[in-house]
Amino acid sequence: MIKKIGLITSGGDSPGMNACIRAVVRTARAEQIDVVGFYRGYEGLIDDDYINLTKSKVSNIIHRGGTVLKTARSKRFMTQEGMQMAVQTLQKHQLDGFVIIGGDGSFKGALELSKHHNIKTVGCPGTIDNDLVGTDYTIGYDTAINTVVDAVDKIRDTAESHDRIFVVEVMGRDAGLIALRSAIACGAEAILIPERKNDLKFLLEKKKTWRQTKKSRIIIVAEGDENGGAIGIGNLLKLEWPEFDIRISILGHIQRGGNPTCMERVNASLMGYYAVKALQDGRSNEMIGIVNKQVCYTPFKDAVKHIEELNPEMLKILDILSA
Ligand code: F6P
Repeated sequence: MIKKIGLITSGGDSPGMNACIRAVVRTARAEQIDVVGFYRGYEGLIDDDYINLTKSKVSNIIHRGGTVLKTARSKRFMTQEGMQMAVQTLQKHQLDGFVIIGGDGSFKGALELSKHHNIKTVGCPGTIDNDLVGTDYTIGYDTAINTVVDAVDKIRDTAESHDRIFVVEVMGRDAGLIALRSAIACGAEAILIPERKNDLKFLLEKKKTWRQTKKSRIIIVAEGDENGGAIGIGNLLKLEWPEFDIRISILGHIQRGGNPTCMERVNASLMGYYAVKALQDGRSNEMIGIVNKQVCYTPFKDAVKHIEELNPEMLKILDILSA
């Protein structure tokens, strides 16, 4: 029987993490389960830096970006000494369940932990990149793409006034999902993403089909694109297309902040709820996902980044609509 669980947010923060924290705490308390929140991800577990989370401690956070538990990408947790200290903390608090809200790196950490302690652990996918196998949706993605759309709409205004081309860089170290979806929503003329290796050649050729009457254009680049992100591509385009006035804009960490969207809050709440239920059902080392609107469970070892799985149909649609 689960009586006391630990909770961390780990890796890059993402809007909706607070909604998930709230759902974990409120679901657990409804079942008389105590919740200990550790600050700064695995760092807090190592340092035993914690807070007893009651229902009232998670009041008024559902709408806030970031994470009230703070987060970190812990290097110490990957050391033998750090792992031992984390295990001691789990023992001290007599935890019999653990919920991790984070990305694939955080789940790898959980797998490592399970080699040293038999605590039951489940994960909720938290990353703006939406690049995990086992879920259609990761916490933070919907808000991030809406932030991008809002920013690019503003860039479009000035691009059009000046007849300029803008090369806009969005996040996505290994994945082009933020780029692709926001590009369709913004009516971008082209995207460059790490999943497609010939997209620079394609962009240079694409110019031939562009309407002569249209002088302003938006090119969205995922930061992980092999051609060097927006700076590399923008500078190259300046050389290749001297007839155009080209500007570069890097959206950066604004994509990780802001109030979560309605969809984000709902999905994060569902995941937090099902994480507690999964622990009660005896599940362990699994990530909660939502696939085709159904809750599903993926072993941590398989909840890895899915690279090169972009829907080709979406790319085709983008090309047709932006011509
Ligand atoms: O993994 C999420 C992410 O937002 C990536 O898209 C981005 O490359 C990275 O985190 C940035 O991380 P940091 O804030 O640690 O520089």
